[in-house]
Amino acid sequence: MTGCFADIDLTPSDLELARRRAAAGAGYIDLTSSNPTQQGLLFPPDILQTAAADYWTSRRYAPDPHGLPAARAAITRYYATRTPPLILSDDAVFITAGTSEAYSLLFALLADPGDNLLAPNVTYPLFDYLAALRQVELRSYRLDEERGWQIDGPSLLEQVDARTRAVLLVSPHNPTGAGPTPP
Ligand SMILES: Cc1ncc(COP(=O)(O)O)c(C=O)c1O
Repeated sequence: MTGCFADIDLTPSDLELARRRAAAGAGYIDLTSSNPTQQGLLFPPDILQTAAADYWTSRRYAPDPHGLPAARAAITRYYATRTPPLILSDDAVFITAGTSEAYSLLFALLADPGDNLLAPNVTYPLFDYLAALRQVELRSYRLDEERGWQIDGPSLLEQVDARTRAVLLVSPHNPTGAGPTPP
């Protein structure tokens, strides 16, 4: 393989081999499956038909790289009703196909190859791969289990240097579930 993963050993690990053996047997439930239609959750046909009917009337569409204007306006309305309210202009909202894509765009926007970003440890494993794709170094700062997985400030500051471009904060946090205390 060539490219940024050329040096990575992609041989299935013992864990993955065990998973494949389990998946071949009966009663295996894949809790990582994120496609609802593969789990028997099908979209209601009347909603799909109504959405499609609008398309057949004009057969035109006007894509916007920021996301559909009506969807962005709905998002700003939603944030305005939260407690405390967050007042945004529609221009401040960019829609991506999930947070993974948003992270990837942000990593590229904020950091050049060789720069670094700080991410919590423990963490969501995707960040390592997104950083590798952008040739950005991902550094870990510690979360303190004794204090409900809050950020360990000194550990965060130890990682910062002149090439640090951003600190990733995940709230509510995955996998610990730590988040803001309710008002
Ligand atoms: C912290 C974090 N980032 C990203 C993702 C992936 O989200 P998406 O499916 O929206 O790309 C998850 C999913 O659990 C997550 O916990």
